[in-house]
Amino acid sequence: MAHLRLGDDAPNFNAPTTDGDINFYDWAGDNWVVFFSHPADFTPVCTTELGRAAALNGEFQKRGVKPICISVDNVEDHKAWASDIGETQGTALNFPIIGDEDKKVAELYDMIHPNAATTHTVRSVFIIDPKKKVRLVLTYPASVGRNFDEILRAIDALQLTDAYNVATPVDWKDGDDVIIPPSIKTQDISEKDYPKGFTEIKPYLRTTPQPNK
Ligand code: BEZ
Repeated sequence: MAHLRLGDDAPNFNAPTTDGDINFYDWAGDNWVVFFSHPADFTPVCTTELGRAAALNGEFQKRGVKPICISVDNVEDHKAWASDIGETQGTALNFPIIGDEDKKVAELYDMIHPNAATTHTVRSVFIIDPKKKVRLVLTYPASVGRNFDEILRAIDALQLTDAYNVATPVDWKDGDDVIIPPSIKTQDISEKDYPKGFTEIKPYLRTTPQPNK
């Protein structure tokens, strides 16, 4: 499938992983998923990324998120590389890496961008919700390691804006004020919906304290 878009169903698949064979939907269960690709095993940037993702295990768990990674290497290579990740990054790998030698899953998720590299996945990130909908997509080239703090921040924003009728402003982080969406006219802002009150900066720019803090 080309060009997975926000709101699309995340494609299901069966694949081998470092934790055994999985059916993606069964493995995900009722959790959120961060599904991310890396270009290749035994490469430096990828080693740091997977180490960081492993170190954030508690943060993912707190948010009900399961991470899973993929490259077009095989599971045996992933397992051999995993020990390097533990040794050099300080945290043993604690999530599965999919083996995708035939590129079946990478192609399903459009993770190979031929004008960047014909044979390897770029650094894709798909945040998928418990209904298996694609909720956020990031794409980085091989030369640029991702920022996992940003991935956590985006998950916080998605979960907050699912639970409350708010949007998050630039550089928002958990605990900061949020925005009342433009679909609500200022005269219709109710105390019931926004019990902490609001500040009108412009008729279209109204902020309110984060509702669940
Ligand atoms: C890396 O993970 O370090 C890497 C992988 C592919 C190309 C360039 C860098």
